Amino acid sequence: MELQLTSPLDMHLHLREGAMLDLVAALSARDFAGAVVMPNLVQPVDSLERLAYYGAAVEAATSNYTFAPYLTLFFRAYDEATLAAARPQIIGLKLYPDGVTTNSAGGVRDLGEIEPTLTIMERLGIPLLVHGESHGFVLDREVEFLSVYARLARRFPSLTIVMEHITTAAAVALLDEYPNLYATVTLHHLLITLDDLAGGLLQPHLFCKPIAKRPEDRAALRSAALRAHPKLMFGSDSAPHPLSRKESSGCAAGVFTAPVILPLLAELFERHDALPQLQAFVSDNARAIYGVRPPAKTITLARTPWAVPASYGDVVPFFAGQTLPWQVVTRSND
Ligand code: NCD
Ligand code: ZN
Repeated sequence: MELQLTSPLDMHLHLREGAMLDLVAALSARDFAGAVVMPNLVQPVDSLERLAYYGAAVEAATSNYTFAPYLTLFFRAYDEATLAAARPQIIGLKLYPDGVTTNSAGGVRDLGEIEPTLTIMERLGIPLLVHGESHGFVLDREVEFLSVYARLARRFPSLTIVMEHITTAAAVALLDEYPNLYATVTLHHLLITLDDLAGGLLQPHLFCKPIAKRPEDRAALRSAALRAHPKLMFGSDSAPHPLSRKESSGCAAGVFTAPVILPLLAELFERHDALPQLQAFVSDNARAIYGVRPPAKTITLARTPWAVPASYGDVVPFFAGQTLPWQVVTRSND
């Protein structure tokens, strides 16, 4: 049995820089026609100079593949001239509340101060991508942030706002409340709950922000993804960290899913008799929402078992060492 996907898109991806970029970029660029590349480098992508530097680095790391990197700028206060100059090179600005996740120091401290930049973004038609978590109790952070999304969606009705990596039933419900509000969901939040991470022996490779939530939250995310809710896009949030930063006290947040995404999505959608909806979930919805036109690329998966490697370099992937029923067999550009 085979399955073909046309130009799959990963609308939330961490590619890092340097040796890590060289290690992981190909694993996404071979299976996807494009990806939204996050700006939270150690020194964030927050200027036209950094954008040019990082764009060239990503380009070089993916040059052997038919792959469109959609770059993002790290949200801060920008003037109109800077955003107008950046606009042709970016898909949006990524807002991190200060300190909520990996490399987000320097993010927004006072949500009251972001409005002048949002006004410019709305005028220029630049989407806002948000890591929507408060600084509250870890399981409540996303739900506590939902009122911020609602306020922004009302105040900036022409601004496209994307709730990144949603993890709760409440966030799924909010999608239908505001026409300019969209969301991405990850593979791991469709598959795991907090129990998988911390219910038995602690699993550092499943630790990420936002943290995986309750079974009923996962059920709501799955239901929306499996019917390819038109305002929901696939965004892996694949976030590689070296083994030494994961299997340590003070484990870094991030799940490295890039190499296993399409096989595991095929398995999940097949198990729920939803394979016909996978194309919309993993590509068509994002094209409609962002208006992107990714390069043509056909990915063929076969129902042939595949053993996931135990590691890629010094990074441990999701489902490391396990055998999956599906694998990618061909990647063609016609
Ligand atoms: C991401 C990372 O490592 O950059 N980590 C994560 O847990 N998801 C940052 C992020 O998207 O929150
Ligand atoms: Zn992320």
